[in-house]
Formats: sequence, C-alpha cells, structure tokens
Amino acid sequence: MKLIIIGAPGAGKGTMSEEIINKYNIPHISTGDMFRDQIARQTELGLKAKEYIERGELVPDSITISFVKERLLQDDCKTSYLLDGFPRSEAQAEVFAQMLENKELGLDAVIYLEVDFSKLIERVTGRRICRNCKSVYHTVFSPSKVEGVCDKCGGELYQRPDDTEESLKQRLEAYNEETMPVIKYFEKLGYVKKIDASQDIENVKASLFEVLGDIK
Ligand code: AP5
Ligand code: MG
Ligand code: ZN
Repeated sequence: MKLIIIGAPGAGKGTMSEEIINKYNIPHISTGDMFRDQIARQTELGLKAKEYIERGELVPDSITISFVKERLLQDDCKTSYLLDGFPRSEAQAEVFAQMLENKELGLDAVIYLEVDFSKLIERVTGRRICRNCKSVYHTVFSPSKVEGVCDKCGGELYQRPDDTEESLKQRLEAYNEETMPVIKYFEKLGYVKKIDASQDIENVKASLFEVLGDIK
C-alpha cells in the first residue's frame, strides 16, 4: 500500500500513522521525525532546519526536497510506504508528481484528515512524544500509564519545542497557504479520501480502516 497522510498540525497524522504501520507493517516516512532526528544529532541539515521548525515555518524547499527524495528512492519504498508530512508545498508536489510520472514511485491514495481548527490548540499543547520510539501520547486524550514514561519502550516523554500556541498559529498559516493547494491538487487527480478527524481517536481510527479496507 502506498499512501500519503495529510492534514493540519495536530490533526492526527502521527497517531493514525502508528495504527497503519502496526496493521500493515509498511515504512513510515515522517518528514517531521526525519528533521527532528537531524536536529537531535546536530547535523548541518538539522542546524539549518531547526530555526524554521521552531518558528512554525516550513523548512525551505531547497533543503527539504533533496533530503526527502533521497529517502523515497530507497528500495523499501518500492512496494509500500506511508508518507507523513510531504509534499506540503506546491514545489514539493511538483517534484512528487514528476516521480509518479517517471514511475520512480507509485501512489494508491491520499488520506486527508480534515479537522475543525478549534480542536488543535488543545491537541498540540497536550501532546507528549517518546524520545526513543517516537510514539505519540496526549495528557488527556491518550495518556501513558505512568506520567512521562512511554508504555511501549519505557523511554522518556517530551514536549516538542514547536508545540506552543504561537508556533501553532504560524504552522496553521503555512498549512492554509502552502499545503491546502497541495490537497486541492491531489483532489483533482482523484487520490483524496477524506476522513473526519474532529472525532475522538477511536472513531477516527474506525473511519480510517473503513477507507483503507476499500483500497486494499
Ligand atoms: P510535522 O512533525 O509534520 O508537524 P505538523 O504537520 O505540524 O503535524 P503534527 O506532527 O504537529 O501533527 P499530527 O497531525 O502528526 O498530530 P498527532 O497525531 O501527533 O512537522 C514539523 C515541522 O517540520 C513543520 O512545521 C515544518 O517546519 C517542518 N517540516 C516537516 N515536513 C516538512 C516539509 N515537507 N516541508 C517543509 N517543512 C517541513 O496528534 C497531535 C496530538 O493530538 C497528540 O497528542 C495525539 O495524541 C492527539 N490526538 C490525535 N488524534 C486525536 C483525536 N482524534 N482526538 C483527540 N486527540 C487526538
Ligand atoms: Mg506528526
Ligand atoms: Zn517509546
């Protein structure tokens, strides 16, 4: 299965990606996770990306495109992948479309998590992430059994530096201006499966698996 998952910051892309990869065992390519890994390792790319990410702006296409393209061209993506966070600008969509045309990649569907923006501030500020295995929790909606500790691996939970009210505002602006046109583009091509992501986690998950059942 070759999928893109797309939606506003806090819509639930990471949360639903965990569900998909657990069930179908396919590579999860999260560009946000890839950047955070580069930042943690203090690579040159990570140092460049950090300031944009913390402000809530998109990392420039000149950095992002070659970085993500290299990952997508690896062998494991030939049979299946779940792409979370790319493409999210028109320039990125053009590169992706070119890869489809050249048959360097395939695509079955774009899962669009459509969410009421009023839900996002609480989702984003309550989010906690495992430093080790990257599992996603929420202090209210999806708490870990022991506060601050990952249920799956015992790793430490942390809060992303861009999960502030101010940065969310900026991320939403970037989403509206740069990513919405990408969703419209995939809609025109007939790839988009829309899911109501304003529901609680269990119901979003049920809607998601209904849609994925039709794709398989
Ligand atoms: P990225 O990491 O992709 O962040 P984002 O798009 O802002 O999305 P989030 O990860 O914040 O939200 P999510 O939809 O994954 O929500 P989650 O499932 O965690 O990117 C970060 C930054 O990197 C960007 O701002 C940009 O700077 C840069 N970047 C990345 N890709 C780029 C690219 N291609 N080009 C340029 N720059 C790029 O859920 C959120 C919380 O809500 C969790 O706590 C979860 O438990 C909870 N939750 C989830 N679903 C529900 C529900 N249905 N009900 C209640 N709670 C829920
Ligand atoms: Mg995410
Ligand atoms: Zn963990």
